[in-house]
Amino acid sequence: MRVLVTGGAGYIGSHTCVELINANFEVIVIDNLYNSSKVALDRVEKITGKKIEFYQIDLLCESDLEELFKKRKIESVIHFAGYKSVSESVENPLMYYTNNLSGTLVLLKVMNKFNVKKLVFSSSATVYTPAMGALDEEADLKATNPYGQTKLIIEQILRDLYISDNTWNISILRYFNPIGAHKSGEIGEDPDGIPNNLLPYITQVAVGKLEELKIYGNDYPTKDGTGVRDFIHVVDVARGHIKAIEYIDSSSGVSIFNLGTGRGYSVMELVSVFEEETKAKINYRVVDRRPGDTAICYSNPSKAEVELNWRAMKSIEEMCEDAWRWQLKNPNGYKVRKSEIWES
Ligand code: NAD
Ligand code: UFG
Repeated sequence: MRVLVTGGAGYIGSHTCVELINANFEVIVIDNLYNSSKVALDRVEKITGKKIEFYQIDLLCESDLEELFKKRKIESVIHFAGYKSVSESVENPLMYYTNNLSGTLVLLKVMNKFNVKKLVFSSSATVYTPAMGALDEEADLKATNPYGQTKLIIEQILRDLYISDNTWNISILRYFNPIGAHKSGEIGEDPDGIPNNLLPYITQVAVGKLEELKIYGNDYPTKDGTGVRDFIHVVDVARGHIKAIEYIDSSSGVSIFNLGTGRGYSVMELVSVFEEETKAKINYRVVDRRPGDTAICYSNPSKAEVELNWRAMKSIEEMCEDAWRWQLKNPNGYKVRKSEIWES
């Protein structure tokens, strides 16, 4: 099957490309490289030994997308492309609403026009109302920032689309906290500037690029007072997409699945496991809570286990080891940053 992967040069997209190619899918990637590098796709080719068909296309450019759909017969789409920083979305909501919503609308319009109606969409655990227990797919929804709003609005658009035309087959995947990297150390998370997320921050402290980790609060009602998250290996997340694409090939409707491990680890626990696995020392300091953070966020992943026959396989130790291998092999990430692309 020929799959179009939007945002395929990004962190989760590049790992998913590897899994798709290994499962014998034919992959076409589009990405505007705003938050990624073409080098990631070169590395995917190195890992898989297969060529990737890549187009540098901005999803907002409808004519470019139409051209591609005209030229290539696409059977299904995995839609990763979008902006993903919560804090940036609070500072610049219009940028987030424009890119994430308009990009998705253009994609859906073009898919509709060319009668391509199989879609896997990247949603997020950020759509859930914070709770102290495991979140299943029926849990209450609430967005607390523009980024989360874009995910909720797109989920609703997809439901409305299916109501209007029930030949669409759509799977919405709500990821918890993807971390880690491909075992080869060739691809991984490559944040631009100072990382917002925990594990990339930890690896940059360990490699000496950053001085110390700031732990945002140790007075939460959790086992050690630090925040608890459902960290999941990015390769497990990528594998979930293979199951979802197979699922929508044989069923219709809009299905929603959590991709998480079902187990929460605290920030302090992750730091300890990382130190243990890598023998690196993480300097840290506890500071105030980060505005907008919740105490606990973890999944009930049983629906994906039952209906997709998917479950997360990789341990927290493996997540740390693989992230560290990636960091050591690529202390400056892919080196080519979006800023350099714009400047050149
Ligand atoms: P990423 O930024 O690494 O990848 C997104 C890719 O989309 C980038 O390569 C970027 O250049 C591209 N892109 C953005 N806007 C585009 C546009 N208009 N046209 C073409 N390409 C565009 O992010 P990621 O971590 O791989 O996340 C992938 C998806 O998963 C996103 O939709 C994100 O919101 C969602 N998600 C991520 C996480 C996480 O923790 N990483 C958690 C939950 C959900
Ligand atoms: N944390 C620190 N110090 C840091 C970074 C994070 O203590 O430097 C703590 C946070 O306070 C939180 C935990 O580590 O308790 C995890 O924080 P992340 O920023 O790594 O992840 P979040 O759970 O806040 O958010 C992530 C993505 C969101 C997504 C959400 C759910 O960044 O986009 O997971 O999928 F919506």
